[in-house]
Amino acid sequence: MIGREIKVFAPATISNIACGFDIMGFAIDYPGDELVLRVVEKKGVKITKITGDAGKLPLEAEKNTAGMALIKMLEYLNVGFGVEVEINKKMALGSGLGSSAASAVAGVFALNKLLEKKLTKKELTEFALKGEEVASKAIHADNVGPCLYGGFTLIRGYDPVDIIEIPTPDDLYCTVIHPEIEIKTSEARALLPKEVELKKAITQWGNVGGLISGLYRKDYDLISRSLNDVIIEPVRAALIPNYYEIKNAANNAGALGCNISGSGPSIFALSIREETANLIGDAMKSVVDAMKVESTVYISKINKKGPRVI
Ligand code: HSE
Repeated sequence: MIGREIKVFAPATISNIACGFDIMGFAIDYPGDELVLRVVEKKGVKITKITGDAGKLPLEAEKNTAGMALIKMLEYLNVGFGVEVEINKKMALGSGLGSSAASAVAGVFALNKLLEKKLTKKELTEFALKGEEVASKAIHADNVGPCLYGGFTLIRGYDPVDIIEIPTPDDLYCTVIHPEIEIKTSEARALLPKEVELKKAITQWGNVGGLISGLYRKDYDLISRSLNDVIIEPVRAALIPNYYEIKNAANNAGALGCNISGSGPSIFALSIREETANLIGDAMKSVVDAMKVESTVYISKINKKGPRVI
């Protein structure tokens, strides 16, 4: 086992999907993080190198999402070896694309592959969540879940974490724009109301049910009607300059719906044709360009597989 090495990719994820704050997410084909894991004699986790983070991420394993996830997994496995890890961040930190979850998932997936799939996805989720907690200071599985399982996932409950895989209609495309401003998930969570008016809750859970039903039935009109958020978006929109202009541009270009990806600043739109997905990307980008803010557009199908060995 000592000296064995593996390189893996774990995808970006769009969490919340408008109405499903902390309970829904899906994975996209790219961007995503890469991670190399090597088994070494010395016990514990050593992060040897991180690239693509502009020097912002800690090399101390306990403070790093992948590091913490692997510490917990190795403790549980109680094996007589340790691991060295190299992380190559392929998406910006604080982008709302599940960057911390992708690194944590990449770590536990890589170790599990080297050990020849000893643990289930459910078990890996628990370890990856310990890593996610380091970054976002809260347990939420709506990035880790879809990153690890692929496709659309529902987090039915948290005690214990109960992840349900939802079918992914083949025609769906996702357009994401990442305006280059950084929003820390912990700060975007601190803004949120502690209580929700019953009237708003009724609207929200109607939409959650509608979205899940729409995905099962491949009913794109129902998906479109359900991609609305009356609780989180009105608060967080203020963090993204010209958010509603960008959203209107996406909807006018043919999106089924458009909303904040995770805690932002990335914004996602779903559509059912590649051509439309491209038009949406152009429309959103022209609004962001006019603000003189740099941005990156990603157009992808829904990633149904989750992490993979590369
Ligand atoms: N559901 C989390 C939030 C996802 O919106 O705060 C963070 O990426």
